[in-house]
Amino acid sequence: MEISSIIALFLLTIILVFFILFFLALFISQQIGVPFVPTRRKDLTRIFSSIPLSSTDIFYDLGSGNGNVVFFVAQHSQARCIGVELNKLLYTFCLFRKKYFEPPNKSEFIHEDIYATDLKQATVIYFFLYPEIVAQLSAKLLTECKKNTLIISHGFKIKNWNNKCWHTIREGNFKTYFYRV
Ligand SMILES: C[S@@+](CC[C@H](N)C(=O)[O-])C[C@H]1O[C@@H](n2cnc3c(N)ncnc32)[C@H](O)[C@@H]1O
Repeated sequence: MEISSIIALFLLTIILVFFILFFLALFISQQIGVPFVPTRRKDLTRIFSSIPLSSTDIFYDLGSGNGNVVFFVAQHSQARCIGVELNKLLYTFCLFRKKYFEPPNKSEFIHEDIYATDLKQATVIYFFLYPEIVAQLSAKLLTECKKNTLIISHGFKIKNWNNKCWHTIREGNFKTYFYRV
């Protein structure tokens, strides 16, 4: 076999493995309860350019998927950034991405259910989850979060939290809601 054929076969295998892992990750997240759909880059810029984060902030992405949000915030701020993800494949991907593909930053990943995550230290919490999950999460946020913690829900409003909502971004496919507890 010629060297060019071997290289082509190798590249094809890598692409195939990548696609299989991608669809497996989608399937696992679907089973967990929320499909893996990353927040779009344009939306990330819009959302996080409107809030200043400092080195004293502790940022959480609840259901962090492929780590896009965590890496974006870690890259654009000095905040400690924590991603929580139950899908082991996506969690492992984030560790791999951090080790080999991202510049040194203050990102961390936890493999656990978001309902088990201790949110007492959080100053900013972001999520892009289904409305039912958001509704279930709201009680936890109210009991655990410090006063003034910033909660950002991309995609869906938090039910009965209208009085806590101080800002909405309406551009893009999904709206983003900003709350203070
Ligand atoms: C719509 S994706 C959002 C990914 C990422 N936050 C973003 O915006 O790019 C939702 C993610 O939440 C994860 N997830 C759903 N329920 C979860 C739970 N109970 N605990 C931890 N992760 C969860 C899914 O596996 C999926 O990766």
